[in-house]
Amino acid sequence: MKNFKYYNPVKIVFGKNTITELPKLLKSRKKILFLYGGGSIKKNGVYDQVIEALSGFDFIEFSGIQANPDYASCLDCVLLAEKENIDFILSVGGGSVLDAAKFIAAASCYEGDEPWDILTGKVKIQKAIPIGSVLTLPATGSEMNSNSVISRREIGEKLAFSSPFVYPEFSILDPETTFSLSKRQVANGIVDSFIHVCEQYMTSHIGSPLQDRQSEAILKTLIEEGPKAILSNKDYDVQANIMWCSTNALNGLLGCGVDQDWATHGIGHEMTALYGIDHARTLAVILPGLYSYLREQKEEKLLQYGERIWGITMGDANVRIDEAIARTCLFFESLGIDTRYSDLGIDEDAPEKIAERIDKKSYALGEKQNIRGPEVIKILRNLK
Ligand code: NZQ
Ligand code: ZN
Repeated sequence: MKNFKYYNPVKIVFGKNTITELPKLLKSRKKILFLYGGGSIKKNGVYDQVIEALSGFDFIEFSGIQANPDYASCLDCVLLAEKENIDFILSVGGGSVLDAAKFIAAASCYEGDEPWDILTGKVKIQKAIPIGSVLTLPATGSEMNSNSVISRREIGEKLAFSSPFVYPEFSILDPETTFSLSKRQVANGIVDSFIHVCEQYMTSHIGSPLQDRQSEAILKTLIEEGPKAILSNKDYDVQANIMWCSTNALNGLLGCGVDQDWATHGIGHEMTALYGIDHARTLAVILPGLYSYLREQKEEKLLQYGERIWGITMGDANVRIDEAIARTCLFFESLGIDTRYSDLGIDEDAPEKIAERIDKKSYALGEKQNIRGPEVIKILRNLK
């Protein structure tokens, strides 16, 4: 196992009616920024619950954070946070609102002229306004990690940053808040979480049986609970299990001491930046081609995955790997998520356009940093 440091300061408050815990969690904050998205929280009663919990606190609202949060809206919010002397940001919504909160928290404390530098990695954050979250969409794991992904539509970019200063102080996870999700969002969340696990699991076999089994536990739970959530997302226990899977899929624990891939995400972010496709839907078309292309490099893990997750034990390595990939695709498709690049209906030359963007990065993708433009074309076109 490789050396690692693991620190995760996020307090998770999980369960029914937990939004009522907000006053205790907010302690004696002087001025709170209540941040939310396009209005789903006004339709499902979450807004009213938060407003009730905030009575007695001084707060202002900022709404309209987009799915794939936009840099320009975040900067508007930074100006407001500075003007109002905000000392706490409360994010209420999905991963996009929370990622925006993280960026706003960091950019508000940044003294340089160009906050975009936080996302390009040119500057290292030294400080951020504290954040708390009420999560309404299980998918990203943002509620218990230090990552944020921001889109800048005016220049067609989507970049991520990570800093220990933007861990939420707390995250409230009430599965009942997810009852209003559309089937599309439920499916997106399951597939995003599944692939977060894969990015930390389907790498070199370096002798990490605990992390492997932790990953497999999440994959198996998502495979069992996912289809139930697509049939109806009003079953509390199903939603609770999916929500806890999503959080555990990307809170840093699975990645301790093991190699991590993240090529599917790297390519997926370019696809969303270019074509605006939902994050999870980009991942589902990239992952099968990536595993097929890197079948030798990932052979031991792909075989282990096939056997432990799908019970595949017959045939030679190639046959078993093909079947493991096919079963994964069938699972995604059973949730209503396409797995073929051609299903996306985007430009015929999209792989070349995405490859060009990947080639402009200063780093290559994958756990062995061996994925650049030419490999991306092969992965997306399913070539050897
Ligand atoms: O904006 P509102 O009106 O709230 O509607 C949202 C949005 O339209 C809606 N929604 C959220 N909760 C709902 C609901 N609708 C009904 N009932 C509810 N309870 O769902 C839509 C999508 O929300 P969004 O927050 O965009 O989804 P998600 O949580 O999947 O976040 C996606 C973003 O997270 C980034 C993605 O790249 C993307 O920008 N990621 C962040 C990561 C992280 N911070 O660690 C890791 C991920 O890999 C990912 O890259
Ligand atoms: Zn993701």
